[in-house]
Amino acid sequence: MQDKVTVKDFQRMKEDKEKITMLTSYTYPIAKIVDDAGIDSILVGDSLGMTILGHNNTLKVTLENSIMLTQAVSRAVNRALLIGDLPFGTYGINSFETVKNAYRLVKEGNAEAVKLEGGRERIKEIEKILNIGIPVLGHIGLTPTYVNIFGGFKVQGREEKQAQILLEDAKMLEEAGVFAIVLESIPWKLAKKITENVTIPTIGIGAGEYCDGQVLVIDDILGLNFQVKPRFIKQYANIKDIISEAVKNYYKEVKNGSFPSEEQRYD
Ligand code: KIV
Repeated sequence: MQDKVTVKDFQRMKEDKEKITMLTSYTYPIAKIVDDAGIDSILVGDSLGMTILGHNNTLKVTLENSIMLTQAVSRAVNRALLIGDLPFGTYGINSFETVKNAYRLVKEGNAEAVKLEGGRERIKEIEKILNIGIPVLGHIGLTPTYVNIFGGFKVQGREEKQAQILLEDAKMLEEAGVFAIVLESIPWKLAKKITENVTIPTIGIGAGEYCDGQVLVIDDILGLNFQVKPRFIKQYANIKDIISEAVKNYYKEVKNGSFPSEEQRYD
């Protein structure tokens, strides 16, 4: 197994043209499997609001939710870079609160870096977080906390003016010092242009193949998604059916008396 991944490795991988792999995780067992499989970075995304808590968007996630699950994931992770996500309302109010919340994600949640959504409007807060020594991952495009402004989970940056704003935002985030930028649900040509115009890595989700790395929600690749299924998802397993089959077998065996058997009992 390779050494611990740090933000410096992200930069090296971009320079070496080695694709960066990132997945979300929210629990100890899944994070353990993901880390052991060699994924470069684990994001405890605020997507936990949908995957773990069953909300239909990410707006209700609290800092406590994020801290608790980041902490659980941190106990499993040895190699991957662990990124905590600042949920809606934990930034954008005043810089003091933002820095305090980022600090808690690191101090209590054991995150090694934090992510927050937004472009030019976040620069001052990002600089303050960096000033206390916390690496920041930017996130632009279809930023899910803006779902009510976007009128749903819709692809962003299709119009020329909006595409220009996203390109400028990416450059401003780079200038501010973020170590990488998530590009979510934007046209592949725009993602390619952004990737070629910044020196830091871009991590795509629904942004095509030219990004420096890719991130997906673990539940989506495992077939555990019960909500929106965007086109960019690729399902690599069908865990839903495996769990369902196991539960049905347990039900059947308890009902017919074949579980527990002699093997599962004490003398
Ligand atoms: O919350 C999340 O999981 C995310 C990633 C999908 C980028 O923001």
